[in-house]
Amino acid sequence: VSVTTTEEPWKRYPGPGGESKGKGFVEEMRFVAMKLHTREQAAEGEMEAKAPEEEPVDKWEPTLDGYLKFLVNVKLVYDTLEEIIEEASFPSYAEFRNSGLERSEKLARDLEWFREKGYAIGEPSAPGVTYAHYLKQLSNKDPQAFICHFYNVYFANSAGGRIISKKVTREILDNKELEFYKYDADLSQLLQTMRDKLNKVAENWSRDDKNRCLEETQKSFQFYRDILRLILS
Ligand code: HEM
Repeated sequence: VSVTTTEEPWKRYPGPGGESKGKGFVEEMRFVAMKLHTREQAAEGEMEAKAPEEEPVDKWEPTLDGYLKFLVNVKLVYDTLEEIIEEASFPSYAEFRNSGLERSEKLARDLEWFREKGYAIGEPSAPGVTYAHYLKQLSNKDPQAFICHFYNVYFANSAGGRIISKKVTREILDNKELEFYKYDADLSQLLQTMRDKLNKVAENWSRDDKNRCLEETQKSFQFYRDILRLILS
């Protein structure tokens, strides 16, 4: 019986023997992530929209209140990822320090700007707290699975993040451009350097390690989508 269901999308990876031999493991992580987008979110997406945050961004009706909640929660996730990389409970994490993709300080500046304007900034709520807790635990026991989240969360902001940025800047932020979506160097260069590092770290992984990593992609989407949904609350 052949098992090629959406539960194991990496088995459909078109490379030799279903692997990205010679191309690097990031290709496989990207392949699995792209399938988990809806068709309207990205050309390579295969999912149907089943939740409000999966609807096309141009149809979203974001609220400022909800967007501020999103920023507070997503900041907790980036704070946590950046602490984990800094502490490096597994030595491979240290490779990902000072990538230029870090978002924690940028988000701190954005939230400070809103505070100065008199907006009330609340505490992180269930979606951010739950994901942060999960990431901390995972990072101490399964580096391959953890690195899947690391990849997805940083790369999500560089792609979908840009689309969301355009929408909220125009419609709820009165054209204020947030630091969250800005990078201090050429973004495509920063991403390429990160891809090279990820590929290098994954060179030492067994096929089982790689599959465990790819298998986490779905969780990373679920957690991150719960946080995105706050924008529409
Ligand atoms: C890539 C849109 C949510 C992870 C992309 C791309 C688009 C996109 C258009 C393709 C970029 C390109 O290669 O040209 C969106 C939209 C989202 C969303 C509109 C929701 C509103 C997510 C989520 C995750 C995610 C929840 C995971 C947590 C990724 C990753 C890539 C990607 C890993 C590959 C980036 C790369 O290869 O450089 N997304 N996305 N996205 N997205 Fe999303």
